[in-house]
Amino acid sequence: MEKPVIGTREMGGASRSGYGNPDEFVRIENVVKKFGDSVAVDGVSLTIAKNELFALLGSSGCGKSTLLRMLAGLETVTSGRIFVDGEDLATLPPYRRPVNMMFQSYALFPHMTVEANIAFGLKQEGTPGNEIRERVTDALELVQMRGYAQRKPHQLSGGQQQRVALARSLVKRPKLLLLDEPMSALDKKIRRQTQLELANIIDRVGVTCVMVTHDQEEAMTMAGRLAVMSEGRIVQIGSPSEVYEYPNSRFSAGFIGSTNLFEGTVVEDEPDHIVVESEELENRLYISHGVTGPIGMAVGISVRPERVSVSHARPEVPYNWARGVVTDIAYMGSYSLYHVRLPGGKTVVSNLDSASLMKEDAPAWNDDVFVSWSPASSVVVTQ
Ligand SMILES: Nc1ncnc2c1ncn2[C@@H]1O[C@H](COP(=O)(O)OP(=O)(O)OP(=O)(O)O)[C@@H](O)[C@H]1O
Ligand SMILES: [Mg+2]
Repeated sequence: MEKPVIGTREMGGASRSGYGNPDEFVRIENVVKKFGDSVAVDGVSLTIAKNELFALLGSSGCGKSTLLRMLAGLETVTSGRIFVDGEDLATLPPYRRPVNMMFQSYALFPHMTVEANIAFGLKQEGTPGNEIRERVTDALELVQMRGYAQRKPHQLSGGQQQRVALARSLVKRPKLLLLDEPMSALDKKIRRQTQLELANIIDRVGVTCVMVTHDQEEAMTMAGRLAVMSEGRIVQIGSPSEVYEYPNSRFSAGFIGSTNLFEGTVVEDEPDHIVVESEELENRLYISHGVTGPIGMAVGISVRPERVSVSHARPEVPYNWARGVVTDIAYMGSYSLYHVRLPGGKTVVSNLDSASLMKEDAPAWNDDVFVSWSPASSVVVTQ
């Protein structure tokens, strides 16, 4: 019988994307988008549940905005189909699409008050005046901007403008809210705060939301599930912790957080562990949690920096450690980032929390040290 391909047994692979799920609200089926000869979105299939906050994550140019624009019906698909709330988007005229999109640059009208900005879309739809007032008040309340109704956009902070833009999108009560880089205009500090506020508001309104970002921290903080995209394709889908703890590929491992990646070959395959030999390490790698793979298979081993310890004492086990020299220590406040260079030239990065560095024998610059990690701390990737 053929051996199963390496994978984390407990995670069960791609089946979590929710096909056949009764909560399913958005269904993207094998969608391709070409601009001339170039493929911007390359066969994406994905389902999103009702009231989910889903993030599309990936580096610049990987097709995030294009996919979102197709969801909004602003761009036609080259092939494949998109369903929103059971209806094929292609057959719905624009005014019947239950979708609202907030763009990468969400310019508010500068000459209009906050209130007028929010009311604008409703006025255009011919909503009666008293209903507009009520809905605008509710929307302002929701984003905690009631006291700012008469201000102009330039009299607001970046985060406040952001919330007005969100209120302008929500006031139309879309069933599907699409946010393209909603925080891109904000500086880092206000961004962190606004992320939590936005996620709370979206949760309270109970709207299904697809958000595009290239900021992995933002996706991790805000989204219930996320998709990592690369070159028009989805590389991995899962909750932030699933993708962080069990990256399915070298790309995912490196894109979500930072990681130490060792290349090697499977030399032992037992029911409860595998052993991998790597030219980058003098020791073998012993991986214990739910993985399997045929002897001779080339694999990558990802070990997160916070799983790596640095010590002067040589570990007593015959695997998962290496000797090296501390070449750099970056103090980050609650932790320090250690760079340890191995004899072969590879640098291993370790996050050590500051409390553990208060000890007398804490490793210092230029020290000869050992880096090590436990058998449960590595993830095997084959792609
Ligand atoms: N209207 C267009 N005509 C031709 N090519 C396009 C068009 N829109 C996008 N593309 C190309 O499609 C690819 C994906 O673009 P897209 O805007 O979806 O990327 P993105 O992931 O949103 O990137 P960013 O993070 O920089 O916003 C890019 O190579 C881009 O140049
Ligand atoms: Mg974009």
